[in-house]
Amino acid sequence: MLDALSAAAPSVIRRQDYRPPDWLVPEIELDFTLDGVKSRVRAVLQVERNGDHRRPLTLDGDDITPELVRVDGVTLGGDAWSLDDGRLVVPLPGSQHRVETEVLLSPELNTQLMGLYASGGLLCTQCEAEGFRRITFFPDRPDVLSRYTVRMEADRARYPVLLSNGDPVGTGELADGRHWAQWHDPYPKPSYLFALVAGDLEVNRSEFTTRSGRVVELGIWVRKDDLPKTDHAMAALKASMAWDEQVYGREYDLDVFNIVAVSDFNFGAMENKGLNIFNSRYILADPDTATDADYDAVAGVVAHEYFHNWSGNRVTCRDWFQLSLKEGFTVYRDQCFSADQGSAAVKRIEDVRMLRAAQFPEDAGPLAHPIRPDSYIEISNFYTATIYNKGAEVIRMMAVMAGPERFRRGTDLYFERHDGQAATCDDFIAAMEEGAGLDLGQFRRWYEQAGTPRVTATLTQKGSTVSLRLEQQLAATPGQPDKQPMVLPLRVRLFNERSGEPLGEERLVVMTVAEQTVVFENVADRAVLSINRGFSAPVTVETNRTPSDLAFLSAHDDDPFARYEAMQQLMLDTLVGAIAGGTPDHAPVIAAIRNTLADPALDKAFVAEAVLLPSEGFIGDHMLVVDPDAIHAAREALRREIATGLMAEWRAAYADCQANRFEYSSKAKGARRLRSVALGYIAVSDAPDAAALAFGQFETADNMTDRQGALGTLANGDSAERLTALGAFYDRYRDNALVLDKWFSTQALSLRDDTLDQVIALSKHADFTLANPNRVRALAGAFAVNQRAFHTEDGRGYAFLADIIVALDRINPQTAARLVPPLGRWRRFGEGRAALMRQALQRIVDTPGLSKDVYEQASKSLV
Ligand code: TRP
Ligand code: ZN
Repeated sequence: MLDALSAAAPSVIRRQDYRPPDWLVPEIELDFTLDGVKSRVRAVLQVERNGDHRRPLTLDGDDITPELVRVDGVTLGGDAWSLDDGRLVVPLPGSQHRVETEVLLSPELNTQLMGLYASGGLLCTQCEAEGFRRITFFPDRPDVLSRYTVRMEADRARYPVLLSNGDPVGTGELADGRHWAQWHDPYPKPSYLFALVAGDLEVNRSEFTTRSGRVVELGIWVRKDDLPKTDHAMAALKASMAWDEQVYGREYDLDVFNIVAVSDFNFGAMENKGLNIFNSRYILADPDTATDADYDAVAGVVAHEYFHNWSGNRVTCRDWFQLSLKEGFTVYRDQCFSADQGSAAVKRIEDVRMLRAAQFPEDAGPLAHPIRPDSYIEISNFYTATIYNKGAEVIRMMAVMAGPERFRRGTDLYFERHDGQAATCDDFIAAMEEGAGLDLGQFRRWYEQAGTPRVTATLTQKGSTVSLRLEQQLAATPGQPDKQPMVLPLRVRLFNERSGEPLGEERLVVMTVAEQTVVFENVADRAVLSINRGFSAPVTVETNRTPSDLAFLSAHDDDPFARYEAMQQLMLDTLVGAIAGGTPDHAPVIAAIRNTLADPALDKAFVAEAVLLPSEGFIGDHMLVVDPDAIHAAREALRREIATGLMAEWRAAYADCQANRFEYSSKAKGARRLRSVALGYIAVSDAPDAAALAFGQFETADNMTDRQGALGTLANGDSAERLTALGAFYDRYRDNALVLDKWFSTQALSLRDDTLDQVIALSKHADFTLANPNRVRALAGAFAVNQRAFHTEDGRGYAFLADIIVALDRINPQTAARLVPPLGRWRRFGEGRAALMRQALQRIVDTPGLSKDVYEQASKSLV
């Protein structure tokens, strides 16, 4: 927390100021005497002076005080060391010393969930990015790599399981019902990858044999009752291990790999070496409690954390400005893994939807930053969609330009060259240039410039010559008034409007200048443009395509993403036109949806995606001034027309997707997805049986996808069944926190007029708590992306969110700070709303004792 003085100007960390560490710590021994109220941590560091200098040893510390400081076996008096802003400073005479410290911790009082904390009777740690300094004094920076030996001692009854990184090397019994375990991790690692877990856990065990024959013992550790929900995660883990061998040639490197699920967690999961710790929502899945989307998220996050073993752990980051080195690359890897496991087309659509929903607004607002930032106040605030998702798109562009074989040569060189090192984004680019044989000179701007490039594509046809005029623009972002042209790999293909067939092969147009024209010769028929196929570059594209061109592409494009995109563009153009006051022509959209529903070649999951209207938020992103009520009205009007205009089709699709019994397969998942979409459309028509149909699905569902699909539909409406279903859902799942989160978020996402009041009431519900990040995100996080509910004209939504942020900041600044960005979008709204949003932000900034996490987000959002 900041005191009143420093609150005005918390210090800024700059990338340019990077200096190698003064001291290295090749070895560390940690000895934990664990207890919820009072844990003792003894650390023994072998330190080595790095380079020729006289500077003292400086060890980071946060909220800890040394009980003892000893150097080379001699206990130091209080005059031989000092504390400087939490850091322990010890002048040392030689170049190598053995430094010992002891601190006391109170895990049960640690509400920040950083460092050593208690969650549901367990003790666990979270160190990334700077949590290790809350456990012991240490140079807590990712370029200090150490070999860890960890001994834990605890009460056997309360904490029968004691886990840490690496391999187990010993266990034993002690007096008074206590016991101990020791672990050793042979791979030098930065402190952010340290972890321990102590608690009463049960394990789902399995084995994986690597391609070189190493037998790895796998364990997923959960509370006893959750054990039956761990099989999906285990299957995903094994699939990930095999995939990384096949696709990247990367093998696992320890004899054990453990995963622990915890209920209180600030993020999704954490890749600690050999001991991944997960938010339980990304481990636990069974048909009764998890939706198909949850199953996919479990597999995706398990893969993500596993892949970090190479992209993050074996090769780590030199400093936190390089965060996208591990996160962007690892997201790219998990995206490709998931694409290989199921429908690649649908996965790409989901990833792009996520990028547009979370990252494009970031790039367009006050918190915009490059994927390699230049400065930060609090690094936790930079675990953003830009670092993760745009970072993944940047890696993907390199893969597109190189092609699979050359891309693989690039990653091979990167892993070989930097194994065991703390590397930079530049190191990755250099390895890719050399290994893949690419010139990435100008491409490096993706690491430097923030903002989403906008491409204007104009197709003209004169006789048999087609010219594609391309222009790119990049708007100013905070601190970057002038921008240079970016390298944009655009996959382009033309289609013959008459025949519906492609006109020639696809071309990869790598745009490098502000304006450029691409010419296609010998085009006999009228050409229709398919551009940025597969979303090959993370840009927005404006074209001179007509509604009938878009409808044509939605039926004929051979790139599934482009086909989806054409439909979305058609819907978006229709809606934006309607909002601007024109008389909307809904017919082309309805016709295109009819076609899509009738196409037997399409898989149902794809159809379900393609026939969904863009979200209210996405529509807002395409308006000069966001008018939430007009957007809602226009979208609902179109939704109703699609519903009534295609009622027979929706009924048929609904019936066609009906299953006798739950099955977990791609096909069955696709059917469930389309069924819920069909139900949603049937429900917005005024069909008299709609609520009964939804309620019937709710009651008879044998899986959570169908049950929640029906509940979501009912929660949007006004029927008597709505409250009955919400009540029944609550009664059934009141003891299951993860499912209760769905109960909260479903209501927070409701399109009803009274959602704001419902959300405020839910924040006073006995089951709402600020202590659990999942619960906070389920209510306040979901509410803040419900555009119309959040942006009521009176500003009560803003005040509500600000209240939550201020209250949460006192116990968990990291999670509180993540709720700030929706308020920072005030420039996008009309004067009245903008003033109220700023007022809420100002009230947050003015709060005494604010954390630097929230201070950074709120103060930057005001600018
Ligand atoms: N490295 C983690 C991941 O991407 C992210 C993470 C987990 C994290 N816990 C955190 C980031 C706490 C900041 C704070 O999988
Ligand atoms: Zn990650």
